[in-house]
Amino acid sequence: MLVQSDIERVLFDGPAIHKRLEEMAERITADYSDRELTVIAILTGSLMFMSDLLRRIPLPLKLDCLSVGSYHGKTQPSGEVIFNQSPVPDVAGRDVLLLDDILDTGQTLAAVRKKLKTAKPRSIRVCVLLSKRKQRAREVDADYVGFEIDDEFVVGYGLDYMERYRNLPYIGVLREELLEQPNR
Ligand code: IMP
Ligand code: MG
Repeated sequence: MLVQSDIERVLFDGPAIHKRLEEMAERITADYSDRELTVIAILTGSLMFMSDLLRRIPLPLKLDCLSVGSYHGKTQPSGEVIFNQSPVPDVAGRDVLLLDDILDTGQTLAAVRKKLKTAKPRSIRVCVLLSKRKQRAREVDADYVGFEIDDEFVVGYGLDYMERYRNLPYIGVLREELLEQPNR
């Protein structure tokens, strides 16, 4: 596997990710076997995860995407979650599964969950590929977690640093000296 020199070390390669997705999809499929899921994916980071996970779930489901932002190109959350697309998907009476790439401070998922609740879904669960082991600013528990990781900045498989690295087929830790440098 060719690893970009910007990557300090690889945490999960493609086969490891896909193996884990297989297990997650199996659980989700069992949990929702008698319902119709409404999946809401949070863009852009969950793109690869969404696409690889959903193709392993052989249930009837609806898919919607939400675009929110909180990082403004930096590695620290700004504390504010911005909805780039205002209409809340119509989830009244539906069983919603929220998908995101990573649970960090919890701000994004807490804000999205709160906003979706106003549309009166029947249930909301949260599914993330990665969860950082850390104290969260907001109480958010993910119902489905791919991998727990240390509190390090990771990129690849949808995750970005200033919109780069999303296309890497693996998840890796970015070399620390590349973070927070202007003009990158
Ligand atoms: P939270 O609101 O702090 O939980 O952050 C969630 C969002 O921040 C994720 O959807 C990612 O887009 C971004 N994020 C958090 N940690 C990382 C990371 O280590 N690498 C890349 N993006 C991250
Ligand atoms: Mg992001």
